Amino acid sequence: MTSQKNSPFTKPLGFIFLTVLSFSVVHGDVHHYDFVVREKNFTRLCQTKSMLVVNDSFPGPEIRVHKGDTVYVNVHNQGYYGFTIHWHGIKQPRNPWSDGPEFITQCPIPPGTNFTYEVILSEEEGTLWWHAHSDWTRASVHGSFIILPVVGTTFPFPQPDEEEIIILGSWYTEELQSVVDEDMESGRDLPSSDAYTINGQPGDLCPCSSEATYRRKVDYGKTYLLRIVNANLNAEIFFAIAQHNLTVVGLDGAYIKPITTTFIMILPGQTMDVLLEANQPLGQYYMAARLFWTEDPQVDNFDHANSTAILEYNGNYTSPTSPSFPRTLPSYFDMLGALSFTGQIRSLATPEYPINVPLNVTTKMYIVVSMNALYCEHTGCDSDYEIAASLNNNSWANPSTDVLQAYYRNISGVYSTDFLDQPLSHYNYTEAIFDPDIVYTSQGRKVKVLNYNESVEIVFQGTNVLDHSMSHPIHLHGNSFYVVGFGLGIFDNETDPKGFNLVDPPQVTTYAIPKTGWLAIRFIADNPGVWFWHCHFEKHLSWGMEAVFIVKNGGTAETSIRDPPSYMPPCVVSLNSRVQDSDASIGKQILE
Ligand code: C2O
Ligand code: CU
Repeated sequence: MTSQKNSPFTKPLGFIFLTVLSFSVVHGDVHHYDFVVREKNFTRLCQTKSMLVVNDSFPGPEIRVHKGDTVYVNVHNQGYYGFTIHWHGIKQPRNPWSDGPEFITQCPIPPGTNFTYEVILSEEEGTLWWHAHSDWTRASVHGSFIILPVVGTTFPFPQPDEEEIIILGSWYTEELQSVVDEDMESGRDLPSSDAYTINGQPGDLCPCSSEATYRRKVDYGKTYLLRIVNANLNAEIFFAIAQHNLTVVGLDGAYIKPITTTFIMILPGQTMDVLLEANQPLGQYYMAARLFWTEDPQVDNFDHANSTAILEYNGNYTSPTSPSFPRTLPSYFDMLGALSFTGQIRSLATPEYPINVPLNVTTKMYIVVSMNALYCEHTGCDSDYEIAASLNNNSWANPSTDVLQAYYRNISGVYSTDFLDQPLSHYNYTEAIFDPDIVYTSQGRKVKVLNYNESVEIVFQGTNVLDHSMSHPIHLHGNSFYVVGFGLGIFDNETDPKGFNLVDPPQVTTYAIPKTGWLAIRFIADNPGVWFWHCHFEKHLSWGMEAVFIVKNGGTAETSIRDPPSYMPPCVVSLNSRVQDSDASIGKQILE
């Protein structure tokens, strides 16, 4: 079915290959996987480079389980640098130890060692994914995480005949991490991709890519469940299939009311379950993906590639010279198209698939999301400032001991608990701002502490600081959240809440603050632990657009964080040369 399934790791160590052992326990099945992570050569766009992948494949292997199962993934680092893996969208009740973001819940797995993650499934059902959570490593270290309904139950839609996993990715011709390191050092903009990929391939319309174009055969009359993952680093993506409708039935591991559409817009981090009926004349049709660009249309330095795969009907027909291209694929700048699609998303909210959106909010936050600058305080900068980004005037800088360890063991000096509930200053958020008092942000490790079971509402406010407005796909670890509203312009706390959807709001892991607009979300903080949240654009994450929630224990064993596993990777900076340099300078800035 999918290319990534056919990539067992077979060579040097006989005992390590993709193993799936299952045995029944009370709370679902237990599965074991081995991820061997090492550099391998790949050739795309006429050039060969080495990159870090899992089990020698790009994209990496799929994990396939049932709702409520537990998955142990033993990650063997055979690469040159430390890294971690995150199970995107999986709540991991009481178990932040296996959540993965580096320097937040663990330190990187040192080269030559291994670490076993315990991934505990609870309410998730549908498609999610996993990815590396260390700098830009996730460009090549990612794969799908399929969660089937509990045995004996079915989907809330007719059983599809077959499935297909579609992983949307980015391709960088250069060795990505060294370019990122240089750019971070110099304080300038970070790299753009050279093409997008569908299941690892840029497709027919990109140089040297035709032969390897990803193809999927279909039978006329069958229905296919497409499990679509947007694993792109920095791209919101439009996706369509020529002459075929798509019916979106799931988003981020939860079902939604079906939306029939001629295209989707999927955020980096999001996953969609989409039904495709093979009901068109026998032939070949392009599936195509292209960037949705919300920055200034005049800034033309983005990756314009149209990436394609081919939907190929079985049977006898003369194939045309080239498959047809989806005319419904929106243009790069189609904001209205994107908003009209996302505006239709509603959760099922039925007795079988209930929602639990908090009605009485106990913690309210208004968070201003901004591009910024920092005065350059290290050598190597191009000018006297470097690009940064912030949430309520805090640009996050990683510690060298992880926050979870510091919290659990009461180590002081690693983070502070003064993340602001309100912006430091109010200004005209939608206007282009160059005032240095606003442009220059402060940097730190401010976390927000929440009591157990707090009902949280956050309104994220986008801004146009430095005349640099765009959409921001916000992602929370440890909890999915309900999107109760979004809109353009400045949030009005009198009138906008009246329009909140408290009836069937989508329950998601990632959702976008529209360009110079706002996003209102709610969730119940019923998962004790340390949970990262951030913009899912890797660029913005590098620049500090992230923060941490600490959700306190609830007072009983069942409402408290679990005991740590007997082994966690050590926080030894010298084991990880890549971290060393930047860490020294960041550490200095923080301590001052
Ligand atoms: Cu998909 Cu913090 O990540
Ligand atoms: Cu962002």
